[in-house]
Amino acid sequence: MTYDRFRDALDDFDPTRGIEDSRTPHADWYVESDFFNEELERVFKRNWIAVGRADQVAKPGDYFAGVLAGNPYVVNRDEVGTLRAHHNVCRHKGAIVAQQEDDSSHSCSRFQCPYHGWEYGLDGQLKRAPMLGTQTSFKKERYGLAPISVTEWGPFVFIDLDGEFGGRSNPRDLLADVAPIAAELECLGMSDLKFHRRYSYDLNCNWKVFVDNSLDGGYHVKYAHEGLASGLEMDKFETHIFDRSSVQICDTKGNDDRLGEKVMYAYLFPNLFINRYGNMMDTNVVVPLAVDKCRVVFDFYFTYDNLEEWDSRKKIRSSIASSHMIQQEDIDICESAQLGMNSMTWKYGRYSSVLEKAAYEFHCLLWRELKGLNS
Ligand code: FES
Ligand SMILES: [Fe+2]
Repeated sequence: MTYDRFRDALDDFDPTRGIEDSRTPHADWYVESDFFNEELERVFKRNWIAVGRADQVAKPGDYFAGVLAGNPYVVNRDEVGTLRAHHNVCRHKGAIVAQQEDDSSHSCSRFQCPYHGWEYGLDGQLKRAPMLGTQTSFKKERYGLAPISVTEWGPFVFIDLDGEFGGRSNPRDLLADVAPIAAELECLGMSDLKFHRRYSYDLNCNWKVFVDNSLDGGYHVKYAHEGLASGLEMDKFETHIFDRSSVQICDTKGNDDRLGEKVMYAYLFPNLFINRYGNMMDTNVVVPLAVDKCRVVFDFYFTYDNLEEWDSRKKIRSSIASSHMIQQEDIDICESAQLGMNSMTWKYGRYSSVLEKAAYEFHCLLWRELKGLNS
């Protein structure tokens, strides 16, 4: 795909036409690697992206590491309690410095590169470079880990590769962007939730296929999730659209303890979902891995006073089992849609103008970001 084809694919979508007169984005948005690479450059490297939880870095020394749009990062809490993020790339020969073996929390007093032992402080400064011998014009302070902008909101930690340290200052005010969904989520209570467990799912589909699926106003619920649909008043599904976020709300039939009275699915551009229902919240971060691969990281939270009590444990287990089943149903339809989009026949579709409003707004916003109109 040439740059021109990227422009053509982008120009095939016209956000001024409105949802009733619009075709969905062209198949190239979902199947072309160069389109995917432009998304990494223009969206995932230029926005606040949720990468983890504040409780993972609660104490000095705590850290977690990952990779965002090809950039290894490490987020940590330093000795004086300041939250920090750095490129997790050794300044000697580029090896990954802080290691993350699984999703459990990690802690250290210094980061030591496993390759030749260079050591960095919790503030990213180079502390020790063993056996370097005589050096000419070598200044240790110029060889610290490169910093990344980092901030917190609610239970989340966000980084911005293009923030104040990224060479281009980011105009986005995260707190302003999340304010509308924060207000809606507060109605169901968010602050009294405790993190319980993380599960990750790898999907053979473009990251937008999963996002589209979650923003279709419940269109697919009746057909793909029979179990879930039986607990929801589907004709009471509402969608509220904001600048860079949306909230989908639905009353329940009151017959499922797990769902409570109302379910709320909040979305923050580009890849964060916060799903709130009953005594539970699950958050989904959609990590783009390749044009036809993404990882969805689920973090489960509960409001039960004692997560260890037998009754709570039982309810939590059964609630997570239901979520897992729903996620498996979503994985199946997302992978099936990706397969069809890869075929020679599918070029674009249409929107339900009554249901798929949030998905349409997502495409319009993505179009603006890819056009460079929001920077
Ligand atoms: S690459 Fe890190 S010490 Fe050599
Ligand atoms: Fe679904």
